[in-house]
Amino acid sequence: MAAQNLLLCLTKEQTDFTEENFFGCLLKLRRENVLEKYVIRGGRRLSGEIEVSGAKNAAVALIPAVLLCDEPCVLENVPDISDVSISLRIMYEMGAKVEYLDKTTVRISAEGLKNFCVPYESARRMRASYYFLGALLGRFSKARVSMPGGCPLGDRPIDQHLKAFSALGAKCNIEYGMVDLYAEHLRGSQIYLDVVSVGATMNAMLAAVRADGLTVIENAAKEPHIVDLANFLNSMGADIMGAGTDVIKIRGVKNLHGTTYSVVPDQIEAGTFMVAAAATGGDVLIKNVIPKHLEPITSKLRKIGVNVDEYDDSVRVWVDGPLVRTNIKTMPHPGFPTDMQPQMATLLTLAEGTSIVTEGVWEQRFRYVDELRRMGADISVDGKVAVIEGTGKLTGAPVKACDLRAGAALIIAGLAAKGITEIEDIYHIERGYGNLVEKLRKVGADIQKVTSPVATMREAVSG
Ligand code: EPU
Repeated sequence: MAAQNLLLCLTKEQTDFTEENFFGCLLKLRRENVLEKYVIRGGRRLSGEIEVSGAKNAAVALIPAVLLCDEPCVLENVPDISDVSISLRIMYEMGAKVEYLDKTTVRISAEGLKNFCVPYESARRMRASYYFLGALLGRFSKARVSMPGGCPLGDRPIDQHLKAFSALGAKCNIEYGMVDLYAEHLRGSQIYLDVVSVGATMNAMLAAVRADGLTVIENAAKEPHIVDLANFLNSMGADIMGAGTDVIKIRGVKNLHGTTYSVVPDQIEAGTFMVAAAATGGDVLIKNVIPKHLEPITSKLRKIGVNVDEYDDSVRVWVDGPLVRTNIKTMPHPGFPTDMQPQMATLLTLAEGTSIVTEGVWEQRFRYVDELRRMGADISVDGKVAVIEGTGKLTGAPVKACDLRAGAALIIAGLAAKGITEIEDIYHIERGYGNLVEKLRKVGADIQKVTSPVATMREAVSG
């Protein structure tokens, strides 16, 4: 296989592309089979500056959205995370050209692409592969994609996605793990979502953008990544209004054109660093953020006794007193984000008093609690409600990340804990946090990534 054709596999290492690192990339995608872990010596106060990357949940929709046009698109501020690698790999496997222009800029061209099937093995590795359904349907009026994978957060149906596709005129069929969509003719339509769903809203937008006539999505999700997808599509020539409100209007256009677009900063990565700063009693300037997107997190942190100073595109988080209890209920945007719930619950184990955390989006988002208990947390869970007795301290332990944000919570716990924490199953974390070890070390964290068969916990931290 010619080296040029391999490019594509898609990590930023591609700038120094060789056949060897192609296989390195493939290995990276198979991390589940490699025993890697993070080893953290806790108790260090974080201080300094940290840079936030582009948003995972925007990037994984923008990449398939490129399929909607026949010209190259350049995406900037692309995060270096495995969900992005997988999305780009799917594009490559389908026949698109993918090229890293620098560490965070990717040029993707779906020119002349004819393929409407997504390779099964890649698609089932992540939740966001469902965006290929909407994008392929929008381009070819047909799509064949496996049922998506993703974090185990309880029941994750896609009925609302299918409802939206049907409303636009598509027939949907699920057989042998594959979703098949086919439409004679995509027509704009009224789509009422029974539940507020980020994925279904974005998929409806992708499928409707080139359909004939007007589509109105009601009860739409309002997250910053919804607005980012609308802005991206509009920069390609789409006609979308109302993104960020609960009614989105899309007037179908015949064709879209290439564009250059910068992915919105990741508000969950930013929030994770904010909580890490607070949990270690630190003082950190978090850069490349949109403070408005962080408001639900900022306001809870202030309630807990953490100082947050907002600037144009950065926030400073610092602590000069004790942390105090609060209650949190997660909700769709602009409510408190479910993707920050495990991190914030971890912080509350360090606060004085009893806090109540209610999960309002996912059925099973307290699976990390058992791991936090190993570190001395006093948390009881009943269904969607967790009661946290703040003990003011955590101690290091060997733990496992059971999903992406659970992993982020364990990192925060490890940074704040006395002693050494060893976190396994970090491939979950690397799905959504790029260069995490480097970023945290820059602000003073003692964290290392080690391959467990060759390094014991103590060797790693003393090394
Ligand atoms: N739901 C349905 N039917 C559907 C779709 C969703 O009943 O067809 C329900 C879900 O079961 C859930 C609720 O609606 O109870 C919200 O689900 P949503 O569709 O909004 O979630 P998602 O699109 O699958 C995205 C993020 C998640 C994030 C949620 C909520 C991506 C790739 N994933 O998931 O991110 O938790 O929105 O904000 O954008 C993460 O980044 O760690 C993560 C899990």
